[in-house]
Amino acid sequence: MKFLTSLGLSFACLALTAQTPETTATRRKCGTVQQDVSQHQAFEAWMQASLQKDNQFANAKKASVVYTIPIVFHIIHSGTTVPARNISQAQVNSQIVILNNDYRKLNADFSTYVTQSAFVSSAADIQINFCAASVDPNGTALAEPGIDRVNVTTKGWSALPYATSYIESTVKPGTIWDPTKYYNVWVLQFGGSDVGTLGYAQFPTIPSGTSPVTDMVGQGGAASTDGVVVDYRYVGNTGTATAPYNKGRTLTHETGHWLGLWHIWGDDNDCSGTDYVSDTPNQQVENSSCPSTNGAVKTDACATVAPGFNYQNYMDYSDDKCMAMFTAGQRDRMQAVMANCIRRKTLNNAVACVSVGIKEEAAGILVDVFPNPTSGRVNINVELMDTQDFSVSVMNTLGQTVKDVKQTASNGGLVTLDLSEHPQGVYFVTVKSKTASVTKRVVLQ
Ligand code: ARG
Ligand code: ZN
Ligand code: CA
Repeated sequence: MKFLTSLGLSFACLALTAQTPETTATRRKCGTVQQDVSQHQAFEAWMQASLQKDNQFANAKKASVVYTIPIVFHIIHSGTTVPARNISQAQVNSQIVILNNDYRKLNADFSTYVTQSAFVSSAADIQINFCAASVDPNGTALAEPGIDRVNVTTKGWSALPYATSYIESTVKPGTIWDPTKYYNVWVLQFGGSDVGTLGYAQFPTIPSGTSPVTDMVGQGGAASTDGVVVDYRYVGNTGTATAPYNKGRTLTHETGHWLGLWHIWGDDNDCSGTDYVSDTPNQQVENSSCPSTNGAVKTDACATVAPGFNYQNYMDYSDDKCMAMFTAGQRDRMQAVMANCIRRKTLNNAVACVSVGIKEEAAGILVDVFPNPTSGRVNINVELMDTQDFSVSVMNTLGQTVKDVKQTASNGGLVTLDLSEHPQGVYFVTVKSKTASVTKRVVLQ
């Protein structure tokens, strides 16, 4: 294992090729940087204080923010030498669509892999959208939104592939766009001592002067290296995307680190580690491949009873095809980072950008559906920005409307519907105002 110790709180991802006698499969592993324990504790103290503030705010105001983060992919290539590294706009767009599905709990594979009711109810909409930057830092329109193509020969750089040391010292500082305004993602080929790496991320930075985190200032890493790096073979779900990491979950996972999440198993091999999230079950070690192909309960020495361990979580190491959820606890951490952290809190709609697969443009309308799953009665809490008419309708998977309620001139309120005479299964609750429409799934069981 090798760590980027100079970066302080950041994550490095490494690949270890474990050739066991039984198998020649390559097992990919990612090491969290072993930062100094006091830094780690100070970060957690800050995070817990921040979450507390957030909860107070949430209780008092029931506020919930949907952020939109402009993203730029710096595609590092060598022209005609290996043209595949210069991935297509279609491939980048497929990745942005995946981020928007995963961070809004709109991923279609959710119901295939998240079947335990405990996970269905803790699974969360992170309320973060990603849009493709439409301008560069000079305000010049981009030929391809969200894309900055960089030829290493033109830059006078070494030949690809690159180890993280070169990426940190040369590639990132030489190409980064203002990290207070853009989420920077680099796409390149890992090489040297980092051959086999899928990706790695830099942790968020703690705000200056915020007690109790004064000692943490600057520990997230330098502004000139802030962002995420992904190997060109693990971006999106088309083009060069390579199984079993061909569903864009590497960037979903790295973005989780970039927004303050630890690995779900606590980076240990026993039950002592933690990801500091209360609704992710303690898990012994990381998973590889797919522990189950139908979302069945899997238990281990730390998660001994149902729902077992959450191998469906994006912060595990399962294959892309069975990673399908974040939890509410993980959402709270990421929301706290977006609200407080240097180079995160300034990102929301910071530059002109275009929607690539943002499904829910929920301007001015907040909807909370609970309990979910339900055994019949479902409460739909609606909050509107101003006084308007709105409707609440429920559709089954055949597209038939089974409930439709209209409310006149209000700021929202609680609508309770009884679905108990309908068959068990998935339903879609749509709340429509004159300006917006929000659809949430609810499971009747
Ligand atoms: N090894 C990388 C990291 O921990 C990424 C793992 C992503 N897993 C995946 N199935 N795409 O940062
Ligand atoms: Zn990781
Ligand atoms: Ca563990």
